[in-house]
Amino acid sequence: MDHQRRIYLDNAATSWPKPEAVYQAVDRYQRELGAAAGRGAYAEAIEVGREIDNTRSLVARLIGAGDPRRVVFATNGTDALNTAIHGLLAPGDHVVTTATEHNSVLRPLTQWVRGGSVEVSYVTCDAVGWVDPEAIAATIRSSTRLVVISHASNVTGTLQDLEAIAGYVRESDALLLVDAAQTLGHAAVDVSELGIDLLAAPGHKGLLGPLGTGLLYVAEGIDAKLDARRQGGTGSQSESADQPMLMPDKYESGNLNCPGILGLGAGLRYLQQRGLETIEEQVRRLTAEMLAGLAEIPGVKLFGRADARHRVGVVSMALDGYDPQELAATLDASCRVQTRAGYHCAARIHRVIGSDATGGTLRFSFGPFNTSADVTAAVDALKQLADAV
Ligand SMILES: Cc1ncc(COP(=O)(O)O)c(C=O)c1O
Repeated sequence: MDHQRRIYLDNAATSWPKPEAVYQAVDRYQRELGAAAGRGAYAEAIEVGREIDNTRSLVARLIGAGDPRRVVFATNGTDALNTAIHGLLAPGDHVVTTATEHNSVLRPLTQWVRGGSVEVSYVTCDAVGWVDPEAIAATIRSSTRLVVISHASNVTGTLQDLEAIAGYVRESDALLLVDAAQTLGHAAVDVSELGIDLLAAPGHKGLLGPLGTGLLYVAEGIDAKLDARRQGGTGSQSESADQPMLMPDKYESGNLNCPGILGLGAGLRYLQQRGLETIEEQVRRLTAEMLAGLAEIPGVKLFGRADARHRVGVVSMALDGYDPQELAATLDASCRVQTRAGYHCAARIHRVIGSDATGGTLRFSFGPFNTSADVTAAVDALKQLADAV
């Protein structure tokens, strides 16, 4: 590998680099602590347990959860979404979701539909990936058990009007599951204020933790309706053969990913120190710069809303004469600009925004360590490719 600077613009997949403190926390766990949480009475085990609790509290504070015990650790966003969807649904249920969802929502739901026992309605989005909250309200029926909505699309970056959607769901008997994979760490979400029942997110994207971390918020009272998909040792009520009903133990069987969660704690502290709003502003500025730069290149088609204020730091595009995969490979090979190309594990949205026939999109996504120089490098590299067509 040459030593050209790596320009990492794939933060929507997983954030990189991480804050220095994240590396240190993982390293310290591996070298010095090396104990399971909640299972031993020696100093290291106690410290790990305390750090896990601290991380839980940091997540709770970030999302306005009040009680940290409502936060369940998962191995990624997909795991958290599966825990929510499979734990909640039962034969005869109706689910409302949208065309913008990731496969980590679409595929568990498809499994229920194939089983013939659950009906799913897919509310479409408009050409920029926005879902009309009233269309969701109009699709909810008396048998609707669950409404699943991603807060922001990982393809278009378009932010949904979560407040309006949550308001409509609260007026019904349905529960609301929010996929906050692209928003936690990038945009404020307050589960208590919005009355969100379940919220799933990875810990390794905007929250800056290592891969192998994720979380599920379960509102008070919802755990009584949410079956645990897995059973096993929790370090609590060990004399009983039954799974504890305590939160969060009900959904946390087996050893936790302690190094990952301690790293996640360090990521959350970094977010706190730098301030979520500061990061949000920086990413929004980079997004606006990218949109403006790309708009000047002949043959570029941009997806999503034109205004960076209504999106997260995800920019999808197509360039005439290029397949997105070919573009991504060329950008990396020629100038180490690292992006993601294709359908981005979101099977439905491309049919609506017009990227289905062209092999999906080329996606740039920003994190707190990107700079305007990264944007300039990416735009300049694309200009050269466009000129070469
Ligand atoms: C919108 C959305 N939901 C869910 C996920 C799944 O997250 P994870 O990769 O942590 O399983 C992703 C990941 O890209 C995503 O973008």
